[in-house]
Amino acid sequence: KLKKQQLYYEVNKLAGRFFYNNLVQRKNPALEYILKRGLTTRTIKSFGLGYALNNWDDLLNHLKKEGYKEEEIEKCGLIIKNKQKDGYYNRFRNRIMFPIFDIRGNVIGFGGRVLDDSLPKYLNSPETAYFNKSETLYGLNIARKNCENGQVVLVEGYMDVIALHQQGFKNVVATLGTSLTKGHGLLLKKYFDQIILCFDGDSAGTKATLRSLELLQNVHKNIKIILLPKGVDPDDFIKKEGKNAFQRKINEAVSAIDYKIYLAQQKYSLNTMEDQINLGKEIASIIKEIDSPIEQEAYIKKIEEKTGISKDAITREVYGRKPATD
Ligand code: UTP
Ligand code: MN
Ligand code: MN
Ligand code: MN
Ligand code: MN
Repeated sequence: KLKKQQLYYEVNKLAGRFFYNNLVQRKNPALEYILKRGLTTRTIKSFGLGYALNNWDDLLNHLKKEGYKEEEIEKCGLIIKNKQKDGYYNRFRNRIMFPIFDIRGNVIGFGGRVLDDSLPKYLNSPETAYFNKSETLYGLNIARKNCENGQVVLVEGYMDVIALHQQGFKNVVATLGTSLTKGHGLLLKKYFDQIILCFDGDSAGTKATLRSLELLQNVHKNIKIILLPKGVDPDDFIKKEGKNAFQRKINEAVSAIDYKIYLAQQKYSLNTMEDQINLGKEIASIIKEIDSPIEQEAYIKKIEEKTGISKDAITREVYGRKPATD
């Protein structure tokens, strides 16, 4: 068993090196693409980015020459068995390769991005005994050694992690295209004191934020949220606005309650009394979720300032007329 695991790491590492050499040793469209997106050769090196050529069997032959059997390479997720005829072919072709590391720095899989708009945009290694997406966070091997004051920023994508890292934010991790799991939550709890959610500024990102808050609320108490402009992800943001602007975003990250109140406010135009009533009710139901009465009171005060709904009315709505006694 241990031998199999060792082989898995070895073969994936060799593949990573193979892809890396493809990327850096000569001019090619993948390198052009990556540089055009603003990554430096230093970043390429520290993340071990690579290029899977548009070729059916170069990696396969390379690994065979290194002494590995086809069945072994297949189990590492790198080649696929031909259905019609005999033989195998490369899983990743004509893609930019992002090696995925475990906490100790072993290569346990890859994400591969197309160079154009074709689909699927990203292809990932299949799950194996050694690669479990629901327990892996991209960038964790770096972030756990680089978190200032215990903070970690959770983003959606590979490129978000890398772009932020290049601008000096090394405490950034991403899920691998799956939604956040309990396993991810426990990992984050283990290594960090505060999680800052920074998902894409689109409806999928909002949904992912709400889902993550729900999942994390029992695991991790200290969570903040960064709101990005519409249609913008962290990579876009830092490229456009710079690192100081992103640092400001971190400093101004809001609490889960503030985030939910903000979303509620976005939902209503407040032109009608009905809107105002519904907003008030929705905010009251958000405040109901808060455990601490002191915190509740503080939010109620803030809501009064923000919406003009009286403290008294919100309090009665939250407690159902009578003040809470439990
Ligand atoms: P996004 O679509 O937001 O991509 O998916 P991105 O990270 O911003 O990538 P660029 O900037 O277009 O290159 C977020 C993440 O979801 C996963 C990947 O991990 C991706 O980084 N994903 C996305 C997949 O696994 N498969 C896909 O087809 C698309
Ligand atoms: Mn730390
Ligand atoms: Mn997205
Ligand atoms: Mn994105
Ligand atoms: Mn992006």
